[in-house]
Amino acid sequence: MKFRSIGIVGYGKYVPEKVLTNADLEKMVETNDEWIVSRTGIRERHIAAPEQATSDLAYEAAVRALKTAGLAAEDVELIIVATVTPDTTFPSTACILQEKLGAKKAAAFDLSAACSGFVYSMATANGFLQTGMYNNALIIGADTLSRITDYTDRNTCVLFGDGAGAVVLGEVPEGRGFLSFDLGAEGAGGPLLKLEGGGSRLPASEETVKGGKHFIYMNGREVFKFAVRVMGTATEEVLRKAGKSKEDIDLFVPHQANIRIIHSAMQRLELPEEKCVINVDKYANTSAASIPLALVEAAEEGRMKEGDTVLLVGFGGGLTWGASVLVW
Ligand code: ACO
Repeated sequence: MKFRSIGIVGYGKYVPEKVLTNADLEKMVETNDEWIVSRTGIRERHIAAPEQATSDLAYEAAVRALKTAGLAAEDVELIIVATVTPDTTFPSTACILQEKLGAKKAAAFDLSAACSGFVYSMATANGFLQTGMYNNALIIGADTLSRITDYTDRNTCVLFGDGAGAVVLGEVPEGRGFLSFDLGAEGAGGPLLKLEGGGSRLPASEETVKGGKHFIYMNGREVFKFAVRVMGTATEEVLRKAGKSKEDIDLFVPHQANIRIIHSAMQRLELPEEKCVINVDKYANTSAASIPLALVEAAEEGRMKEGDTVLLVGFGGGLTWGASVLVW
């Protein structure tokens, strides 16, 4: 069976208005701009307004993506929202979004793979579209990490921000679109990065609230080591599957968690700065929104031309990783 070629035919992004700078954080916890910039590369991040939930951020990005794709909401066939901060446990954020958009025909579900969620979601939709089960898909990476961040914990509160990025996938000419995906998981590392409270193992209670179990817990040093390792191995594997070499990469779009992790991946690929998208300084780590925010920003700035080879790679809670090579 010959599969159809699937690629990105529309894109959009959204970040909330409010900006939280390193100087603001200096007033909240014992930290300083020099520490945050030198250890992470982050200068500021955007924070959702109290009335904004993940579906609201996703909606803004989705509307923009549909517009650039020239696709009406009522013609969308599949919606996947990658998130670890859904509006509610259920209904899914994708269903809430389906209603907001008026995308009545679309199947809709959430996908949970933390910061790797956007690449996981594109891979999932690619399968549906290649076989002809659906003709288009709206994929959104959206997270409101500020809602699960402990702003008294300096180890984590400086790292995260809120945002959403969206793409529309559809059929593209042969030789264009996705060439390969590499997805993976290391469940054994799950305890390094987690939110324990509120699930079926540890339902919400007075104790879970008092114990801070509804906030992100992270072993930063161990996650850092995992990140550097898998950014390297996933990149090599996804290039091999695509039949490409590191010299073929025109644009590298890594997960924006920490500038030092990005630099180590660039060194391994021997990539110059101009071939790498870096916006961690403005948005910090936005989890599932991170890769699409970087990709969409690059597209809006005209950094990709038709036929360019683009490599996306990310890692996150699970632990998980996801990478893709595509021809723009
Ligand atoms: N300001 C000042 N000092 C701080 C701060 C801060 N904000 N945070 C930590 N420190 C201190 C620590 O307390 C420690 O002090 P000590 O030596 O007296 O104990 C010191 O700085 C060094 O701490 P380290 O943890 O060794 O710092 P490191 O250089 O490893 O950087 C960081 C920490 C930035 C968290 C890094 O480990 C990292 O980026 N890890 C990966 C995180 C990540 O990518 N997570 C992604 C997943 S997110 C998701 O999936 C939702």
